[in-house]
Parts: sequence; structure tokens; C-alpha cells
Amino acid sequence: SANDAPRAQQPSATYDSAFLKACRREPVPHTPVWFMRQAGRSLPEYRKVREGIPMLESCMRPELVTEITLQPVRRHDVDAAIYFSDIVVPLKAIGIDLDIKPGVGPVVERPIRTRADLAQLRDLTPEDVSYVTEAIGLLTRELGATPLIGFAGAPFTLASYLVEGGPSRTYENAKAMMYGDPELWADLLDRLADITTAFLKVQIEAGASAVQLFDSWAGALAPVDYRRSVLPASAKVFDAVAGYGVPRIHFGVGTGELLGLMGEAGADVVGVDWRVPLDEAVRRVGPGKALQGNLDPTVLFASTEAVEAKTREVLDSAADLEGHIFNLGHGVMPSTDPDALTRLVEYVHTRSVR
Ligand code: CP3
Repeated sequence: SANDAPRAQQPSATYDSAFLKACRREPVPHTPVWFMRQAGRSLPEYRKVREGIPMLESCMRPELVTEITLQPVRRHDVDAAIYFSDIVVPLKAIGIDLDIKPGVGPVVERPIRTRADLAQLRDLTPEDVSYVTEAIGLLTRELGATPLIGFAGAPFTLASYLVEGGPSRTYENAKAMMYGDPELWADLLDRLADITTAFLKVQIEAGASAVQLFDSWAGALAPVDYRRSVLPASAKVFDAVAGYGVPRIHFGVGTGELLGLMGEAGADVVGVDWRVPLDEAVRRVGPGKALQGNLDPTVLFASTEAVEAKTREVLDSAADLEGHIFNLGHGVMPSTDPDALTRLVEYVHTRSVR
């Protein structure tokens, strides 16, 4: 009988999850929800296991990565896990001299400003990040039917750290290269596209059920410049992983004017921050793509009643969408009350029952 069908012919354990169904724009029993930066500083159990271990070192310890990735799944009952790592991990893995400074972010010792500096970049091999393969093996066994989201930084956002040498508000050095030496800029982004692709492939081949490309800082760009100087590199990444058939999510902050282009780059799901309501975002993105978002993360500092009212606004704005994954409009802020996140998951689940 059909029940005796060999296991190998069955889709993966996560295939029928609400999260993957929503990514594929299929009907769901409830709106799936997860949070960007759900694994991390808002959780006391995270701070406890990280004590005395530098951020980048913690990303290279498979058991620790597994524990930190699972913590928000256990605590909040979210519909997906996100792999605990950082966007600069593949850059560190190919030998770029960088560190993640607490309270600051990634800092690069020798910023990339000239063609000669490009020599700092080499291709990423699976052996460079064998701890990722190992951690994802452990994780997928523990997660069972809960999907694991792999991720990487998009070429522009990685370039912003490499060229500036650290976090920036203006991206003056990166933009100076983009406008002033478009050939060098294109070569830099093209190399970063290959590194990002290799990093995503490692995660998918190890068992990640979906991938998210974080172009967090792309909102600093005008559409004309995004299309000319950034989209080709991001599209190269999306094309290169298309064959796996895992959903590809594309997210940035302040990208209201870029939503159409970010979909065009090759995403199946477009992440939206809180500045554009989802019913407007779907018009900008166009048909055929799911949307992810978009509660303002600072709403979680307000009363439960206020959180619920703002959550209803998000769900109502998504009422006519095919394919909605509930998320915040950006990452969980470190001082967020974890209980507010747990309540929010429960509220989205009960409120959206079909
Ligand atoms: O989402 C998750 O829970 C998975 C883990 C994750 C981290 N970084 C862990 C982390 C993810 C998905 C990221 C992505 C990331 N890293 C992005 C894109 C997402 C976004 O927020 O827009 C960016 C831009 C970075 C670069 C980066 N790394 C920043 C800006 C910071 C914060 C600096 C600070 O301390 O304020 C980091 C450090 C970092 N990445 C931490 C964590 C848990 C904190 C490190 C610590 O605990 O010391």
C-alpha cells in the first residue's frame, strides 16, 4: 500500500511544515512565525552558554551552535530555526583578518580599497567551514519536522563591512568605490557572490530547508544604483542555488523602494521591514512571491495589548496574501523581554488559525 512506500521516496521531514508551505504559497493551518536574530542576546540561556567564548569562536563549535540554534525553538515554539552564525563567518574562514567586537559589530583589520586589496579574497571550500556541515547534521536530527534556515550576507552588505572596515551609517568608502571605480566594485561584488554561494551551498547540502540572503544595508541605495551595481551579484547567488529547490528569502532594511528589484533578483520570498505595510509591499513585489514580515521590533517594548493590536494590523494587511511568514521588520533587539516573544508567537498562531 501507499503507506509502505520506501522512505527515500518521501519528501523530507520538514516538507509539510507551515513555514515551507507558506514559502511555496500553499495553504497553511496557521501563519508561520520566526524572528530574525531569535538566537542570541535576548535570551539568558544564550548569554550563559556564550560566557567567555568570543562570538566568532562560538560559531566554530558545532555542539554550541546546535544548542544556541535550538534555544529559541524550545522557548518560543517558532516555526523555523535559523542557523547560529554570522554574515562575516565565511570571510573569516577564507582568512580575512576580522573580528566581531561586542556592541560594535564586524571590524576588518585591512579594509579593501584598491585592486591589490582584492588579493585578500579567495574562494571558499566546504573544508573551510567543516564545522557548519557538522553542526547542521546535528541540528537537523534534533529539529525533526522543524525547518532550519541557512543564511549568508549579500555581496553589498558584506562589501560595506570590507570596504568601510566596520559598521557605517553613510557607506562613504563603499559608495566612493561603487561610483568612482565601477569595475573594481563589480569585481569585488562578483567575488563576494561566489563566496556567498559556496557558503549557502554548504548549508543546503548539509540539510538547511531554506536560505535567507541578508542585504541588511541595501536600503542605503537608490533603485538605479541598486539595479546597476548590486542586483547582478545578488542575482548570481540566487541563480546558483535555484537548482536545489529550497525557498530563497531576500531581506534588507529600509528597502521599500527596492522591494520589486529584490524580488527580481531571484527570491521566492521577499522580507519587508515595518515601513511598508504588507498590502502595499505585495503591489511593489508583484505576483508569484511570498512575503515575510513585518512587525516593528520596538513594538515589543510596549504593553501586551499594544503588541497584539500592532500584530493584528500586520496579519490584517496580509489577509489577501498568498504566502505570508510572520517576522519582525528587523532583528530582535538585545534588550527585548523573551516572554514578549513567546506570547507573540502564540498570538500569531491562535489569531491566524484557518
Ligand atoms: O538570526 C539569528 O538568530 C542567527 C544569528 C545571526 C547573528 N548575526 C548572530 C550574531 C544572524 C542571522 C546574523 C546576521 C547578521 N550579522 C547581519 C544581518 C542581519 C541584520 O541584523 O541585519 C548583520 C548585518 C551582521 C553583522 C553583525 N554581527 C552585527 C551588526 C552584529 C551586532 C553587533 C552588536 O553586538 O551590537 C554582529 C554580532 C552578532 N551576530 C551577535 C550575534 C548573536 C552578537 C555577538 C555577541 O553576542 O557578542
